Amino acid sequence: MMMENYLDIEEALRASAKKTEAALRGYYPADAESDTLWGSELYSLTAGGKRIRPYLVLEFCRLFGGSEAAAMPFACAVEMMHTFSLIHDDLPCMDDDDLRRGRPTNHKVWGEATALLAGDSLELRAVLTAMKNPAVAPEDALRAARVLGDGAMGMIEGQILDMAAETKAISLDELRTLYAKKTGELMRVSAVLGCIAAGVTDGDKRIADATAYALGIGHAFQIIDDVLDAESTAEELGKSVGSDVRDGKTTYLSFMSAADARAYARRVTDEATAAVAGYPGSEMLTTLAEWLLMRRK
Ligand code: IPE
Ligand code: IPE
Ligand code: MG
Ligand code: MG
Ligand code: MG
Repeated sequence: MMMENYLDIEEALRASAKKTEAALRGYYPADAESDTLWGSELYSLTAGGKRIRPYLVLEFCRLFGGSEAAAMPFACAVEMMHTFSLIHDDLPCMDDDDLRRGRPTNHKVWGEATALLAGDSLELRAVLTAMKNPAVAPEDALRAARVLGDGAMGMIEGQILDMAAETKAISLDELRTLYAKKTGELMRVSAVLGCIAAGVTDGDKRIADATAYALGIGHAFQIIDDVLDAESTAEELGKSVGSDVRDGKTTYLSFMSAADARAYARRVTDEATAAVAGYPGSEMLTTLAEWLLMRRK
């Protein structure tokens, strides 16, 4: 992969993040920062983050001929759901982390009760935002909300498995199932919502291909996340590091070296990109998948 392709994807991600962030802010009143619930939601929602999931929504919609206006509410909905998952993931009763997106975690600033409720609120706001997408047919907005709700429940099942794996040994196959849920599901939702925004109907092969791509990059994404937790610094990553080992969490590094985990993530990524390579205009999706392997945050 050429370095200039990485510059292209970084520019594309920056541009789409900027638009997504403006759209996200639009779901709150102008004076929301002075309100406890809205303020704590926005604290985490507007703290940066790579905005990979909204990018997937927008890019799959573009790939299959839909408009950005149709995709943007779905992009915001997925990012709200993801942010909910991060706020709760960091709570003392879960991963107990202090730093996220370059800031103290939500509960460190707002207290545990508000962090819990901000997560609850974002979870529902996500589903409602998808359901109320004004730029698609009502039946497509409802379809998207169902996909989002099902995917989020899959993510939560994955978090249950993740917590259980702190106290009992699991196999590599079980870990893969866990990752398909805790990380893969919201990636899958992102790709499928992009398809729905483009008017792709259920049963269309494009949904299966988008799903294969998204689950593949989600799998690789979590493997790299495990490696970075062990190898990176809080300064570079913008979130706490080392908590996997501290919490006795089973990760890819429980089974293999970081180098072998990276090599495995590369294989999974190659399979993922093969699922969409046949669609004209899918180059950015390939570049994104490659870039995610090399990411340092
Ligand atoms: C972190 O996701 C949680 C995982 C699934 C590993 P991201 O790495 O996409 O977090 P942000 O959105 O960039 O902060
Ligand atoms: C998070 O997995 C998956 C979620 C559903 C939030 P991690 O617990 O490894 O994510 P980080 O490392 O805290 O971002
Ligand atoms: Mg976790
Ligand atoms: Mg965590
Ligand atoms: Mg992690």
